[in-house]
Amino acid sequence: MTSSSDPFCPVGDAPAEAIRDRGFAVFDRVYSLEDVSLFRESIERRYDALGRPATYARPPLEPAADVEISVVGLVLYKLGVHCPELAPHLFKPEILQAIRGVLGEDMHLEFTSAVVCNGDRPFFPWHMHVGGVDNVRYRKQKLFPTYERSERVTTLLYLDDLTPETGTLLVYPRRVGDPTTPPYDPALEDWEGQIELPCSRGTVVVMEQCTWHAARPKRSPGLRAYIACYFTSSAAETTSWVDDSLRPWASEGSLLASVLPRP
Ligand SMILES: [Fe+2]
Repeated sequence: MTSSSDPFCPVGDAPAEAIRDRGFAVFDRVYSLEDVSLFRESIERRYDALGRPATYARPPLEPAADVEISVVGLVLYKLGVHCPELAPHLFKPEILQAIRGVLGEDMHLEFTSAVVCNGDRPFFPWHMHVGGVDNVRYRKQKLFPTYERSERVTTLLYLDDLTPETGTLLVYPRRVGDPTTPPYDPALEDWEGQIELPCSRGTVVVMEQCTWHAARPKRSPGLRAYIACYFTSSAAETTSWVDDSLRPWASEGSLLASVLPRP
């Protein structure tokens, strides 16, 4: 069952509250189609340069430095390495304002990536991103900590429309402070109470790190791409690494410079 409540309605007014109270906020088409083309073409150029490999692999492959192919798709880690020309366009003030409303003024950018799926991809099971770049450790050790205050959010900038063919996003609403254990079997495609998001390209979903989510199968030819980032509060445990790849491209006083971690 998919909830009939409108996932888009509360966001314009109070995105920070939406992130805290239900685990996510949707900024509908916040990037122009011109921006979307710029991002998508840059990512596709990098994919072309890699020889357009299959984007699904189990176990994962590493065809080049900072590139991984897994069940997620082909992931370009560290956008400043792969697509530096995108650096000045990546962030929007209204989104950073909402994130600061959740994580505090001194939050920082922890991680940037682009994800490409070419052709079919099966259902991507339910998961969440607690721990950020160290999420694999939490998954392997089955750690499900709870937090009174949010320490991290993920942003997903979709560069293709999410349709029944390309695979919509499924989100299970939760309030910060709620338990983080999975309420149902993560391999089940439908969870009672889920919200299905058929986002248009240019839309950003900001998700609290403990919000469970999944992606419907992709059954369309060609590429589906998105840009994913982590933003982290100063109160969070220090991570094993931080993506600093955009620093050379941040001009003084820029929006990008304002989110970089202190060197
Ligand atoms: Fe995810």
